[in-house]
Amino acid sequence: MPDLFWDNYELIFGEAVGCKVAHFNTFKDGAFDCEAMKAALMAEGEKKVLILNFPNNPTGYTATDEEVPRIVEAVRSAAEAGKKIVVILDDAYFGLVYEEGVHRESLFSLFATLSKNVLAVKLDGATKEDYVWGLRVGFISFAFKGATEAQLKALEAKAAGNVRSGVSNISSIGQHLAVAAFGDPCYKVQKKAKFEVLYARYREIRRIFEEHPEYAELFEAMPFNSGYFMCVKPKGIDSESVRRRLIEAYSTGTIVLSGLIRLSFSTVPKAKLETLFANVANAIKDLRQ
Ligand SMILES: Cc1ncc(COP(=O)(O)O)c(C=O)c1O
Repeated sequence: MPDLFWDNYELIFGEAVGCKVAHFNTFKDGAFDCEAMKAALMAEGEKKVLILNFPNNPTGYTATDEEVPRIVEAVRSAAEAGKKIVVILDDAYFGLVYEEGVHRESLFSLFATLSKNVLAVKLDGATKEDYVWGLRVGFISFAFKGATEAQLKALEAKAAGNVRSGVSNISSIGQHLAVAAFGDPCYKVQKKAKFEVLYARYREIRRIFEEHPEYAELFEAMPFNSGYFMCVKPKGIDSESVRRRLIEAYSTGTIVLSGLIRLSFSTVPKAKLETLFANVANAIKDLRQ
């Protein structure tokens, strides 16, 4: 998995399932580091599980239309070299893309029939895609080249066993509500309205950065173009100290993940974003004194 990742992956894949977790560099020169991903796939060991999470938590980054073919090619060449690869597409924030030239479709179909050595797994969750915290409804889709009925049955049984041992059962109220919502004539309109709320916040952040070039001296904004979050890296001060200063002096709660400060614009109204970034800037200035 990339070195900027949702921290629960370590618990799920490392602790619960027993994978050996390895990270590759996420960004190089402001873009997804395909070379680092390829090197990780080609590293020692025949079996690989690759996690791609676009839009990404924590960075809010989605691969561009230009990067996606390179990602697919890297997996294809590793598969042709004999690696057996499970590609997990965690689409938990699917649909929340805010820039042109950023890939808007799931990468699932690109891996579905790529190679006999590639198993594609698409994960969707109603939580973020449909803005329903607490329903606890998710979806798993599998595909691989030449899949037979018997193989898919075995896969289904294994997946069911994993769900059973992890969360027991999914809330049936949640399932019924989700199905009813998907069939409701207002569903698309309501979903679009929520998208617009997040998109307006995204644009506001871009505006703030343009209006405050001085922030670039205090922190670096990691590449972001989609999703619920964006991350900043303070310059000259560690993120954890800035997080503490923010909560103690500015009553501003943030999360530090992979050494970066994650700012969840999904939880900050547009009118408060200016203050949020001013607080981050001031907290860094305070600590530099
Ligand atoms: C990247 C990513 N994947 C999956 C999930 C899981 O969401 P849920 O368990 O609510 O469906 C989250 C939630 O934070 C997430 O950030």
